Amino acid sequence: MTLGIVAALHEEIADLLAEMATGAHVEHIGMRDYHVGKLHGHDCVVVLARVGKVAAAATTAALIHRFDVDELVFTGVAGGLAHGLAVGDIVVADTLVQHDMDASPLFPRFEIPLLRRDTLDTAPSLRDALAEAARGWLDDEMATQVPAALRAELQMTTPRVHVGQIASGDRFVSSAHEVGRLRDALPQTLAVEMEGAAVAQVCHEYGIPFAVMRTLSDTADDTAHVDFPRFLRDVASHYSHGVLRRFLTERERHA
Ligand code: ADE
Repeated sequence: MTLGIVAALHEEIADLLAEMATGAHVEHIGMRDYHVGKLHGHDCVVVLARVGKVAAAATTAALIHRFDVDELVFTGVAGGLAHGLAVGDIVVADTLVQHDMDASPLFPRFEIPLLRRDTLDTAPSLRDALAEAARGWLDDEMATQVPAALRAELQMTTPRVHVGQIASGDRFVSSAHEVGRLRDALPQTLAVEMEGAAVAQVCHEYGIPFAVMRTLSDTADDTAHVDFPRFLRDVASHYSHGVLRRFLTERERHA
């Protein structure tokens, strides 16, 4: 059983790669480094997808074809779309949709042509395990990793885990106007990002179970770009690494 671990950004996998280093090897394919080795007793392939739906789809297809992964987990950051979500919350996807898919009038808006569906589901067992790991990490470890001053500055009072729909598209959403349009068009969506639904489509087409976890870096409005690199370095990197470590160690206990 091989697990593919895909991240959107370098900061998220640096610590995982350090943990994996002993005995691992790297295969360079299509401008990506696929790190093949063991993490907490599991055969894993860790790779940076780069940014956007095409990049994520190409990475996912290579993981399936070249590395025979049996299941896949994607981590990254997202903008919170639904009311009540805050920076520092985690969204674990139950379904994903491509918010920029529109082949109308040939197909209904959002429907993926020829798949006859607009949303794709994550695998319940992976999703539940990821959400559990995320809750455990927020409760037990987050405060030791993200300094109190930074949490106060970002108004991360009581970060929570939400399970629901994530929408993906090739656009960084950074205006209240666009947030309003997306909320109107896809009222069930909790968060918006740029890769998850592409990973979902490829996994769906190949029958590979997958899950997606996103840390909210912003609320997709006019402040969305504020110090994004710092958020990745000082917050999101700890989230992804910590949650994945818990996810993997918990699986190891049940193996
Ligand atoms: N990733 C993180 N924040 C995002 C946003 N506001 N829009 C798209 N992708 C994102």
